[in-house]
Amino acid sequence: MDQILIRGGNRLRGSIRISGSKNSALPIFVASLLTNDDCLLHNVPKLVDIITMKNLLISLGVKIRSEGRTCVLRLNKLDSFEANYESVRKMRASILVLGPLLSKFGKAEVSLPGGCAIGSRPIDLHIYALKKMGANIKIKDGYIKGTVSRSSLKGAKIKFPKVSVGATENTLLAASLADGETIIENAAMEPEIDDLINVLNKMGAVISRVKNNVIKIVGVEKLTGFEHKIMSDRIEAGTYAIATAITGGKVELLDAPVNNLDAVLEFLRKMGVKVKIFSQGIIVDSPKELNNVDLVTEVYPGFPTDLQAQAMALMTVTNGISKIEEKIFENRFMHVSELMRFGAKIDVKGSKAIIKGSNNLTGAQVMATDLRASSSLVLAALRAKGDTVINRVYHLDRGYEDMEKKLSRCGAQVRRVHGK
Ligand code: EPZ
Repeated sequence: MDQILIRGGNRLRGSIRISGSKNSALPIFVASLLTNDDCLLHNVPKLVDIITMKNLLISLGVKIRSEGRTCVLRLNKLDSFEANYESVRKMRASILVLGPLLSKFGKAEVSLPGGCAIGSRPIDLHIYALKKMGANIKIKDGYIKGTVSRSSLKGAKIKFPKVSVGATENTLLAASLADGETIIENAAMEPEIDDLINVLNKMGAVISRVKNNVIKIVGVEKLTGFEHKIMSDRIEAGTYAIATAITGGKVELLDAPVNNLDAVLEFLRKMGVKVKIFSQGIIVDSPKELNNVDLVTEVYPGFPTDLQAQAMALMTVTNGISKIEEKIFENRFMHVSELMRFGAKIDVKGSKAIIKGSNNLTGAQVMATDLRASSSLVLAALRAKGDTVINRVYHLDRGYEDMEKKLSRCGAQVRRVHGK
């Protein structure tokens, strides 16, 4: 297995171009199941999760041609109704094929996603919405098995008891071809949802936000192909903004999605980091000493849970005590014990963490546990004195394109050692 070796202490200086958003690209790829026309996508990030999604769609019958960051997807004939254990185990977003398979083909079998490193992650809300639209769903032999007995799913009023990005996406994908109108109340407001809505509307669906968290979908009989440029990745941009701050550096984040980063930029400003918006993105300019700040993760437009681990790494190097409350996932503190190997002082009680800042991080042998936890270890290593070895970096490759290259171009001493 590959390892990443980092010698800490260098300030990041230069510019980093932000790639297309993983969490926007994944449901948009799935939208290709809803039409038999060409779906042309630009700015597709080069990530392992995208390869996993391509492989799943290919196994269902989608033909995919890729050139650089452009992909053309086309479904001529469905070959299978099944997202098997292997694809769902590798990537939970595989569950997004459930809604489109049911609405277009009337049948779907998706392996049940288990728990994962960041919590138990149930899928009850996905199933609740699809059942409301008339799908028959049973859990059998480790699979979610769904059928539609009428000719199509029917529009419904869906009120989610809890905000879920994935359940909102699955409902949008299913409702676009359903018979009649669907209303989603307490829908997710993440920008990736709006990127998907844009695509579905380009395909001929009629979708609008009636209020910020209420979405109306008028189902149509047929959807067409589309051309779309995937939005920039706000979590990648936030990660490099924090990387700049932790090293006391100055970096331009080109193509950063400025409008989707309010909570993150506010957090950095409170820490004393200068953040300037310019025509091509954001300039992050960090002072030598950072203020301690308290943070709560929330659904969008609040501070994203996907940047919590990175923010925690940054808090370990302030001059005071910072607090984090994780409100989205029950077990998203797996990085704490690894950050403590660098000498960080962190106390966790339930969903809250107290971080005592100091300037004494030292390089260590650490292990990546999930995607964002891995990036927090990279950030701590960039700041730590001495050498760090990060094991199990395949987690990083799921969601960060060319991370070592982007960082080393800004002066970091980072290199990858390829394992067997
Ligand atoms: C999406 O996951 C993202 N993944 C995650 O990014 C992100 O952390 C998460 O949204 C929250 O922002 C993709 O977009 C592919 P949820 P998702 O359904 O859709 C509970 C990353 O690092 N819930 O919004 O799976 C759930 O347990 C990844 O890039 C239910 O209770 O998240 C959690 O507590 C990791 N029942 C909360 O809702 C359900 O049926 C939010 O989860 C579904 C979810």
